[in-house]
Amino acid sequence: MTKVDVLLGLQWGDEGKGKVVDVLAPHYDAVARFQGGPNAGHTLVVDGKKCVLRSIPSGILRQGQMNIVGSGVVIDAVLLMEEVQQLERDGINVTSRLKIARKAHLILPTHRLLDAAGERLKGSQRIGTTGKGIGPAYTDKVRRTGLRVGDVEGDFLARYERARDGHMRLLQALGERPDLSQLEQPWLEAIDFMRRFELVDCENYVNGLLRGGKRLLAEGAQGSMLDVDYGSYPFVTSSTTVCAGACTGLGVAPSNIGEVYGIFKAYCTRVGAGPFPTELHDEVGSEMRRLGHEYGAVTGRERRCGWIDLVALRYAIQLSGVTKLIMMKSDVLDAMPTIKVCDAYRLPGGGTTSQMPYSIDNVTPIYTEVPGWLTDLTHATSEQDLPEAFVSYVSLLEERLDVPIAIVSVGPDREQTIVRKNRG
Ligand code: GDP
Ligand code: IMO
Ligand code: MG
Repeated sequence: MTKVDVLLGLQWGDEGKGKVVDVLAPHYDAVARFQGGPNAGHTLVVDGKKCVLRSIPSGILRQGQMNIVGSGVVIDAVLLMEEVQQLERDGINVTSRLKIARKAHLILPTHRLLDAAGERLKGSQRIGTTGKGIGPAYTDKVRRTGLRVGDVEGDFLARYERARDGHMRLLQALGERPDLSQLEQPWLEAIDFMRRFELVDCENYVNGLLRGGKRLLAEGAQGSMLDVDYGSYPFVTSSTTVCAGACTGLGVAPSNIGEVYGIFKAYCTRVGAGPFPTELHDEVGSEMRRLGHEYGAVTGRERRCGWIDLVALRYAIQLSGVTKLIMMKSDVLDAMPTIKVCDAYRLPGGGTTSQMPYSIDNVTPIYTEVPGWLTDLTHATSEQDLPEAFVSYVSLLEERLDVPIAIVSVGPDREQTIVRKNRG
């Protein structure tokens, strides 16, 4: 029996998971998404051509891999259909290479309306969700009123109408005037489109692959600091983004987890509201945004930028039992004369901590400053090409995080990836 390797984000999402899954995919027989939904935007760049995946695993651009949308995912049938059609227009065969879990939950058109209404009601306390209906779909799942992919095989329409009518009553009670006229028909057509894929009992399918000696990579969405239990609650998403989510989302036992790849940027970003201790409101932050093209892949929103936060990274590593680290977007810091590393927080009530406190509202980061490398990394192709100051930065992070950094990424393209010897 083989084990599932897991790759997940350690910050607030958008670490570069899509790029790295695409790079690692040839080492695997299958890639599976285990949580989240189309709130994700995973960007792959191949020969200068960009592709953004939202629900489909990032192994899809490779030829030999099976791709699985797992039970822990929530699916918007319209967005899935659009994603498939775009890929097929680009010559990628999706239909025979994508399996969908029967136990994955469906995002209904009314879930999107409820997401928007919930945000409006929260006013200044709004989360800044992606507006994709994620929270309401997961709410229905735990309320035990959700519709699942497997339901399309049965008396689907009646069940759908019951769920929809319940949502409509709720929206009206919230003072909304819900209008489904443009949304319902395309959604029902997209549900029909979904029938072309093989629906699987993901837990049986995945364990069957492992018993057959197949290698499987589980792809996380969002990031550990957006985890519903351990993230900066309530400014989080509604799923389990840490490694445990791969077990529940795919139906794999904890003892069958292999390597856990934790991925982070050489700095840090966050999109949407919520605390972000190392956020920069100055020109350095704007430079990071400009050089890193830090705008949401899904919503186009500006991402907030700041220095790397080792308190949060150590916490995320602990939560998921990360065995290997992957550092992304190193090149974005190429022109910074000085780089700051947050290793502890000063607490609002006095004192300091290097461990994640209950709340990170109003903590102040304590920084170590290190010299930048002032070298263009984007053309580096091997470890020999990496400047000394950059290697020192990597070594400092390895020492403070106590996990080897196996891969460094120096640009968005598949090729701009350096696997470090003795670490990989
Ligand atoms: P994901 O959600 O974790 O897959 O990440 P996103 O795709 O939302 O955001 C990462 C962005 O950074 C994308 O635009 C990638 O093309 C880009 N990217 C990934 N790795 C690198 C890198 O090493 N350097 C640079 N400059 N950009 C990168
Ligand atoms: P990937 O997989 C960055 C954020 C939203 C918001 C909060 C809740 O591309 O890294 P939701 O729509 O999930 O209810 O929004 O979570 N968020 C993300 N931020 N990357 C993502 O995905 C995100 N998915 C959700 O901005 O703050
Ligand atoms: Mg993203």
